[in-house]
Amino acid sequence: MSNTVLVTGGAGYIGSHACVELLQAGYSVVVVDNLENSKIESLNRVQQITGKTLTFFQADIRDKAALATIFTKENISSVMHFAGLKAVGESCEQPLKYYHNNVYGTMVLLDAMTEANVKQLVFSSSATVYGTNPQVQYTEDLPIGAVNPYGRTKAMVEQILIDMSDSDKLKPTQTPWKIALLRYFNPIGAHESGLIGEDPNGIPNNLMPYVTQVAIGKLQQLSVFGDDYPTPDGTGVRDYIHVVDLAKGHVKAIEALQSEKFGEGGCKAYNLGAGLGYSVLELIQAFEKMTGRKVNYKIAPRRAGDLPEYYADPGLALKELNWNVEKTLDDMVADTWNWQVKNPQGYN
Ligand code: NAD
Ligand code: UD1
Repeated sequence: MSNTVLVTGGAGYIGSHACVELLQAGYSVVVVDNLENSKIESLNRVQQITGKTLTFFQADIRDKAALATIFTKENISSVMHFAGLKAVGESCEQPLKYYHNNVYGTMVLLDAMTEANVKQLVFSSSATVYGTNPQVQYTEDLPIGAVNPYGRTKAMVEQILIDMSDSDKLKPTQTPWKIALLRYFNPIGAHESGLIGEDPNGIPNNLMPYVTQVAIGKLQQLSVFGDDYPTPDGTGVRDYIHVVDLAKGHVKAIEALQSEKFGEGGCKAYNLGAGLGYSVLELIQAFEKMTGRKVNYKIAPRRAGDLPEYYADPGLALKELNWNVEKTLDDMVADTWNWQVKNPQGYN
């Protein structure tokens, strides 16, 4: 049986780390990416890290003909689907762009997979699908309630995938869908080689890339969004997960889809988080301690749409995917800084 994985969005931040883990685990890798938010150099570096080659197609996943060609040329057995847009603020300004890319793009991919009879899929979902909950440690059975267009694209795609899988029960099929919905918490960090990492365009929205750019002098000051939340130090609490641990979770998911556990098919959600919450100030302190650099920050008003505190219950992923995080917050900080120092201009 073929062990070739098609990685959509494989040139991006998380996808490139997944390519490394796949190649190191012995899989063949085919990447499709339109390079809208990434550089081809990330894939050169993936090959440098692993000493292995991968196949790259520069194409948009909404291009039906291009996808058909890829599935015809390559002997693909499963798909990891990272391709998508992810900026929450932009999704509020341009919702259609997000629905078109993330939802319609996935539908085109699913058509191509159906046509090629490739029915194993790992989907990049997000903890953002949970919305507001009284419970701060999220379990997969909590109701879905995304609060912005980006989050709703993830919730919609999850529902489409559940419906696709459910439809198998209503018709005879030799190849049932086997789907893992991976709900990421807050991915940060970089590969320990410092060769690949997060390379955001323009001014970062997320905390960690902002902190590193302040520390290196590219940005002047970090705004800490709110210090009056009902959390131990008043700042927001999140579950930060090392991107390499996250990438390994994808390989574990592929293994599970190919095992007896998914023998009958099915679509299942898994939290990928550490199960620990750190506040904004704790992250800054860890960063300052590890790097010896001061992070210039000020307390600013809360950011609209932010929740005070949430973190994962990763128990299901441990039980069913045999996956758990191995890296600490200090590893995340050290590897982010190593990447930043070695690549002050990202991949440029
Ligand atoms: P990224 O922007 O670095 O990677 C996404 C990749 O997809 C990019 O290389 C981009 O060029 C490509 N792409 C986008 N639209 C495409 C299209 N229509 N056709 C082909 N390629 C396309 O983002 P990332 O941080 O690596 O995120 C990967 C996935 O994980 C996304 O789906 C994102 O929504 C999801 N996710 C990310 C986070 C996070 O914090 N980074 C959290 C939860 C979920
Ligand atoms: C954000 C997105 C979420 C997405 C996730 C990963 C929002 C509302 N949510 O999550 O949908 O899945 O990124 O891409 O945008 N913070 C500061 N100053 C900053 C930046 C952030 O204090 O300059 C704080 C935030 O208030 C939060 C924490 O740092 O408490 C983490 O923020 P961030 O990295 O943006 O991630 P989330 O908001 O959790």
